[in-house]
Amino acid sequence: KVLVLDYGSQYNQLITRRIREMGVFSELKSRNMTIAEIKAYNPKAIILSGGPMSVYEANAFKVDKAIFDLGLPILGVCYGMQLMAQTLGGKVEANPGNGEFGQTILHQKQPDGLLLANTPASQTVLMSHSDNVVNLPDGFVVAGGSDATPIAAIADDQRRLYGVQFHAETTLSEHGQQILHNFVFDIAHAEANWDMSGFIDEQIAHIREVVGDKKVLLGLSGGVDSSVVGVLLHKAIGNQLTSIFVDHGLLRKNEAEQVMEMMGQQFGLNIIKVDAQERFLSKLAGITDPEQKRKIIGNEFIQLFNDESTKLDGIEFLAQGTLYTDVIESGTDTAQTIKSHHNVGGLPEDLQFKLIEPLNTLFKDEVRELGEALDMPHEMVWRQPFPGPGLGIRILGDITEDKLEIVRDSDWILRDEISKAGLEADVWQYFTVLTGVRSVGVMGDYRTYDYTIAIRAITSVDGMTADFAQLPWPLLQKISARIVNEVGHINRVVYDITAKPPATVEWE
Ligand code: XMP
Repeated sequence: KVLVLDYGSQYNQLITRRIREMGVFSELKSRNMTIAEIKAYNPKAIILSGGPMSVYEANAFKVDKAIFDLGLPILGVCYGMQLMAQTLGGKVEANPGNGEFGQTILHQKQPDGLLLANTPASQTVLMSHSDNVVNLPDGFVVAGGSDATPIAAIADDQRRLYGVQFHAETTLSEHGQQILHNFVFDIAHAEANWDMSGFIDEQIAHIREVVGDKKVLLGLSGGVDSSVVGVLLHKAIGNQLTSIFVDHGLLRKNEAEQVMEMMGQQFGLNIIKVDAQERFLSKLAGITDPEQKRKIIGNEFIQLFNDESTKLDGIEFLAQGTLYTDVIESGTDTAQTIKSHHNVGGLPEDLQFKLIEPLNTLFKDEVRELGEALDMPHEMVWRQPFPGPGLGIRILGDITEDKLEIVRDSDWILRDEISKAGLEADVWQYFTVLTGVRSVGVMGDYRTYDYTIAIRAITSVDGMTADFAQLPWPLLQKISARIVNEVGHINRVVYDITAKPPATVEWE
């Protein structure tokens, strides 16, 4: 396995992903791992990730110099390369210009070097940095450089220490995957022996070890993630798992019935259904701030689990379908908070359970692969993602029963039409948003002053980035007409044509 130490880049989990794609297990871990812990973890190689800091700042994240004496191959990426260079006696300075951001050409400088082997002499790479390595540490040579960054790849083949200034992990570095491949196989001699069934075996063994004969409570949300966690846990610990499905009143049309049917009848999970519409909606009454809504919903969930669990005997663990995307965007000690995804940001400090989050290193598409490997039905695994806070974050402004009905009905029409058009598998996620904007319209010769529905439909691979789906005009036309005709209090429908970034997928 390959250990990736986290210095805070938003791309860092991509590194682990690229390596797993090659069939080698890789995990992102805290940069505070001690040398003893690293030895116990026993990786084949280590990667020091990128990060937003400057290595010469007083409070910059450091690395223990002893890591370079472990005899393991180490690759530093961006900040990781600078950190390696500085720690081993080289020098890092601010780029004399404004830094280097975007794609640029890298020229190879080390004939017969291992790191850039099997890649062209000149190749496109993605740069995103304001600092440069200006002096090499002893033992290193320059493996590649760009016009703005003469030292853009460094190598010490003897000690197997390497650095790349560019982001080899993104597809914007044309031969990045080959470079990582060189490092993992030709330099570190890792074996390709990991796949989803390996992940399942590992997780099952791990869950059994952690849980022992104790009981686990799972919050089943109706989404793909918690369903996959449910099936995985059921496989690992059978009846020691109790699931709670909360109908918080913020679900889509018919959703509660479907979840109970599928997870309860088909998969045999033991599910307690809690009807908590009243409880959630009263707490949310009058609340307009998105972060506050998310926090309230998250807190209510946890309190509800606490309440329900006191009715059960001996529950020690709470399982959640938290994904890596939720973790990174909710902010880690290195990454910035974008929004508090409820299952991360809403947890109280004095949580009474120990958490089990078997998916928190995975991206959505990997979770789907996992679901398939667990023999879950295709249509279930490929259901579009649905956020824990549900329709609550698809109504801008305060939440009322009437508005919920509008979103539910318009969402139903959208789903119906996408399904009839056979586009379910092409569009990653699609839903309607009640914007809170009211505008003038004319219906049956009368002036109206009513709400605007926005349609959001996106394509994405992992939810981290997305583009709006280019749905056919006639389809949009039909959806628009149906929404205005069939849903009360809507006289205008708009289509959201922003990508993520700069927008997010959900409007709140
Ligand atoms: P954003 O809006 O952050 O959404 O670009 C990315 C993906 O995550 C889903 N999402 C959530 N999922 N709890 C969840 O389980 C949440 O609080 C949450 N907020 C957003 C969103 O639907 C999209 O698929």
